[in-house]
Amino acid sequence: MYDFVCPQDHQPLTLAEKGAALVSAAGARYPVRDGIPDFVAAAGHEDPPEGNQQFYRTRAQEYDLGNSVMFRMLQSEEEPVREDLADTLKLASGARVLEIGCGTCRDTVHLLRRNATVYAGDLSQEMLAIGKQRLSEANADLNRVRLFRADAMSLPFPDGFFDAAFHFGGLNLFPDIAASLAEMARVVKIGGRVVAGDEGVGSWLAQTEFAKILKNSNPLFTYAAPLDKVPVNARDVTCRWVLQGSFYLISFEVGQGEPQLDLDVEFPGWRGGSHRTRYFGRLEGVSPQLRDSVVKQAATEGLSISAWLEKTLHKATGTK
Ligand SMILES: C[S@@+](CC[C@H](N)C(=O)[O-])C[C@H]1O[C@@H](n2cnc3c(N)ncnc32)[C@H](O)[C@@H]1O
Repeated sequence: MYDFVCPQDHQPLTLAEKGAALVSAAGARYPVRDGIPDFVAAAGHEDPPEGNQQFYRTRAQEYDLGNSVMFRMLQSEEEPVREDLADTLKLASGARVLEIGCGTCRDTVHLLRRNATVYAGDLSQEMLAIGKQRLSEANADLNRVRLFRADAMSLPFPDGFFDAAFHFGGLNLFPDIAASLAEMARVVKIGGRVVAGDEGVGSWLAQTEFAKILKNSNPLFTYAAPLDKVPVNARDVTCRWVLQGSFYLISFEVGQGEPQLDLDVEFPGWRGGSHRTRYFGRLEGVSPQLRDSVVKQAATEGLSISAWLEKTLHKATGTK
């Protein structure tokens, strides 16, 4: 309970009001109901009544039924599929894992089998309530689970708090997919893994009846894997398709910043130069005739274009 931080400013929270709320020194207050802290209500992020999220609030009971139908129609066994999803995280025993959009905790039970501590959060209090019941019915070690209500785009954890983060099944409809993947990466330590997947038939199947029938019944299957929304600090990025190619599963390791280049490696050949000279040292163009003369003159002197230009322009500008 004390591990949560304020999702707005990431400042520590303490339990107050005899366990009924988490509060920050700056005055933020998050209610705790039935042992589940709520980081959504106070932030005023409740969904409008007509929003997609209403399904998970008003018809949470139906979700589990629909879930079983989905596995049956895809001729897949839920247990091994969800085991495989959890394996993608490559968890070491004792790992601390975030599961956001946990719904009714159908994956949470699999994550717990890896002796992990799982922080399982969802936007829907109603889904979480069913999830809590599932965990106790499954005899899960409740000391290793923390349920919470939060928005995937504003997580109540400090940077690098987790060994891994997981989401399955809701990503396509998150209002800002890039922001939610970046937020998952933020709370995972460098070298940890983020795994996120949702409906999206692989493009190689686009013309099959399999794809057309799925998309006809459920437009969510028309979504493509959002690889363009993966954060730039992602490394070792993979995307595979599970459930007969109908759901994408993106997995990446969290790195630091953009990938790095050695800008000063000299290129062999007639152009010469390096990434630094080619990218940061660009000048205006010259007439085609002068360009041809420069290429010819550099070759006569046995220099690359880059080396000849450096030499000639230094001489002309008196800089070397
Ligand atoms: C299709 S369900 C998947 C539940 C579970 N992961 C599973 O595979 O059974 C999608 C879940 O994402 C949750 N969700 C939707 N938008 C969310 C958001 N912005 N932040 C956190 N959870 C969200 C929904 O409340 C719902 O429980």
